[in-house]
Amino acid sequence: MLEHGGRLHLASQRYGIALGDWIDLSTGIAPWPYPVPEIPLSTWQRLPEDDDGLIDAAQNYYGAANLLPLNGSQAAILALPRLRAPGAVAVLAPSYGEYAPAWQAAGHRVIECAAEDLLQQGGDAADVIMLANPNNPDGRCFSRAVLLALARRLSERHGWLIVDEAFADIDSENSLADIAGMAGAENVIILRSLGKFFGLAGARVGFCIAALDALSRLKEVLGPWPLAHPARFVAKVGLGDTAWQAAQRQLLHDASERLATLLIANGLPPNGSTALFQYVQCKEAAGLYEHFAQHGILVRYFAEPAALRFGLPENETAWVRLATALENCAKK
Ligand SMILES: Cc1ncc(COP(=O)(O)O)c(C=O)c1O
Repeated sequence: MLEHGGRLHLASQRYGIALGDWIDLSTGIAPWPYPVPEIPLSTWQRLPEDDDGLIDAAQNYYGAANLLPLNGSQAAILALPRLRAPGAVAVLAPSYGEYAPAWQAAGHRVIECAAEDLLQQGGDAADVIMLANPNNPDGRCFSRAVLLALARRLSERHGWLIVDEAFADIDSENSLADIAGMAGAENVIILRSLGKFFGLAGARVGFCIAALDALSRLKEVLGPWPLAHPARFVAKVGLGDTAWQAAQRQLLHDASERLATLLIANGLPPNGSTALFQYVQCKEAAGLYEHFAQHGILVRYFAEPAALRFGLPENETAWVRLATALENCAKK
């Protein structure tokens, strides 16, 4: 079992602090979810149909022609390795922990690489390269130009470049969503999620953007109705709500800057970030994780390299509690 953020029930049992007393900063999920509208009863009763407007809304939002709705981007992370004969797969490390096991389970040889090595492997050894852009947990960004050059090198041996853009909604400057699967980027596959920016991780909505043949094979593996009808409805409305998106972008941006300032003021300067989290490498990370947990604040701990990732506090109460816990650890 991989450890993920957001495991409040477990934290509550482990530290003996009531569930409602926690501040959960352990994920990169926006603390202010999309205000889901009333869901028509018919969506619970009827099977979803492809022409319900979701595809149009997603094409518009991502600027992408060919996409497939998924039960979270996790569905594609698990299914894509089954679409290729076993080969060598270079996976960015550190990064989201689900990639390597998914490829290994489908019989591929996984090479976990730091960013610089990954760019090199693209030219030399790998049939597939998989990375997150921006990366989770360290916020590292790869430019469009670097990624397209990598994709071209991979295409010489029919390789894929898979870019997980779960955190790309706020700043999409380096996104390849508009070009993946199209001329010049036929072998680029993009994963998107409504879990982070829209704060709808529980709805399990994601998309794969790729060339039509890859999407039809993926569709075959996933089977009919990969996405529940109520989730499709909510996703369609959220993807079309540009006013809410603009306000959310600003809120997240401001909160992330405020978080960086608070961490710096307390001797924990971030080494990387996105608008949804700040990443702090420090050798005391394990002890600090315990310290925050004892204050009822759940952060995400990474062992290698030793680091903490802080998500955004939801409200002023949470900001004050985080500031107090930070001051207390500075005094220790
Ligand atoms: C980089 C990255 N990709 C994908 C996922 C999974 O997203 P989804 O909820 O769409 O399955 C996560 C969740 O933490 C993530 O951090």
